[in-house]
Amino acid sequence: MCGIIGCAAEGGEVASLLHRGLKRLEYRGYDSAGMATISEARIYVKKDSGKIDEIHQRLNFDNMPGSIGIAHTRWATHGAPTQVNAHPQLDCEDKIAIVHNGIIENFLELKEELIERKHVFRSRTDTEVIAHQIEENLRSGKDFLQAFFSAVKRLKGSYALAIISSHEPGKIFFARNESPLVIGLGDGVNFVASDVAAFIERTRRVIFLDNGDAGYITPREIRIYKLESGIEVKKRIIELEWTIEMAEKSGYPHFTLKEINEQPYTLREALRAQEKYLDLLAEFLDRARNVFLVAAGTSHNACVAGSYMFSKVAMLNATPVIASEFIENYGKSIGIDTVILAVSQSGETADVLAAVDHARMRAATVLGITNVVGSTLTRVSRAYVLQNSGPEIGVAATKTFTAQLTVLAQLALTLARKRGKLAQYEIDEFREELERLPELMKRAIEISHDPIKSLAKKLADAKSIFFLGRGASYATAREARLKVMELSYIPCIAYPAGESKHGPISVIEEGYPVFFIAPNDSTRKNVIGNMMEMKARGAEIYCVGTEGDQELRGISDWWLGLPSIHEALSPIIYIVPFQFLAYYLAIERGHDPDKPRNLAKSVTVQ
Ligand code: G6P
Repeated sequence: MCGIIGCAAEGGEVASLLHRGLKRLEYRGYDSAGMATISEARIYVKKDSGKIDEIHQRLNFDNMPGSIGIAHTRWATHGAPTQVNAHPQLDCEDKIAIVHNGIIENFLELKEELIERKHVFRSRTDTEVIAHQIEENLRSGKDFLQAFFSAVKRLKGSYALAIISSHEPGKIFFARNESPLVIGLGDGVNFVASDVAAFIERTRRVIFLDNGDAGYITPREIRIYKLESGIEVKKRIIELEWTIEMAEKSGYPHFTLKEINEQPYTLREALRAQEKYLDLLAEFLDRARNVFLVAAGTSHNACVAGSYMFSKVAMLNATPVIASEFIENYGKSIGIDTVILAVSQSGETADVLAAVDHARMRAATVLGITNVVGSTLTRVSRAYVLQNSGPEIGVAATKTFTAQLTVLAQLALTLARKRGKLAQYEIDEFREELERLPELMKRAIEISHDPIKSLAKKLADAKSIFFLGRGASYATAREARLKVMELSYIPCIAYPAGESKHGPISVIEEGYPVFFIAPNDSTRKNVIGNMMEMKARGAEIYCVGTEGDQELRGISDWWLGLPSIHEALSPIIYIVPFQFLAYYLAIERGHDPDKPRNLAKSVTVQ
């Protein structure tokens, strides 16, 4: 999730406007940054790895010449965070500069074609192909707008683009598909940016672009076309009443709420995990004698769900282990035929890295799933896959949890194919379910938000809350407990529903809130039995099940029905109401949901 901004201004003040905009976008990514401007038909570029302030101190963004420019703050997905991989990326002749947020899925194919046509690539980014493709189209005699449109039409994946060129020095070209892009209309100055925060100091008049929109801006003109048809469109200008602080959170009061709502987008990005790396991981996993899924906190809960996925979809036995327990518990038993799949959003959690170090010393193979390119985990893993969630500012993990699950699910599918464990129709069905995830997530968010917001008022004074589920829903119950506990500070219990009768049920008294996660899957029948046990002892039953399940609805005191989904994938969707519950309980109880007490985003001590 990078941040881009383009600014076309009368009067040559563009460098400082871009620099200030970039600072406001920094929360979208901060491993490298860069800027390009045009002056007298020549492109000037400054870029490097590091934080914006550090780069500015070294290179001084503010003295770049010209009144048209683009800038970028990066969260690496393709290519390590180095100077050469920082944006803007350029064509062979330094006449086209481009900044990009998103992932180009077919870049390797396009790159090969362009290399055959003698284009020289400098970076390992997916973005650079776009500059060369436009250059290639110009060689065949197209005008710039046409060359730009035909280049963009060849792209598969997500993109928000801003481009300047010495062929058309007065314009900034833009295009959008699945990555956010918004135009800001000022007086003698226009912007195009990833979000409103980038330009809100200058203007609150905006046009939100849709997928398939492309065009250009100048200081006084805005032209928007439908990319497919080339037809020009007029869009509504909206006058926002947001403060600067609200703009940074896209209008939400907290980052946590923004990040929960962002999940349809982040799931789509997680579904773009690179196939060649999934294959590589699957190869190692398939050959292993023992597989451990090692992680801490929310990432551990993702591993608990991951082990159900591997078992159900790929028939592979993978043991989820809490990182800080790994060495004591399994340290002596691991060797050359062991594979450790470490899952860590930050890639820096000390407990995870200690387990990984130990495993490497004993010649085991270490694989990784992480959100941060260049993190320690990416450096110590034989192979890793990125979850592409962009930075998560809320301390409690929300969007990164569902993205981790989405990567694990793709890995399970790759493994199933490799191991020949599923029939073709089952593979197809699972893949279709994966592709539906962003849409299902959107529905889950719409369905959950209002009922949960009111429920939080009722439960705000609860002394304790119980979460129960079976199979994959046990992982959902664990994550629900963690979310609610860390944001609301209410002590919570999570158990496999079938185990609750072996002890925990003794805490139940009249009115005790017990949540069941009970999608319509193979565990449902047994869950009903567990519900009846709790009900008989006076528990208040809150159930999140599948839409239309009248029987469960009838048994429950409170009911929420979510869309039906493959049972191995249900935690991705069924965790949503609990993310909202955690958030709204924190609000009701007067806590800051973005910064829960005593917690840190990344724990680098053992
Ligand atoms: C900390 C955070 C948790 C996170 C855990 C593991 O405890 O507060 O939200 O789940 O670390 O972090 P990782 O970066 O390894 O996924």
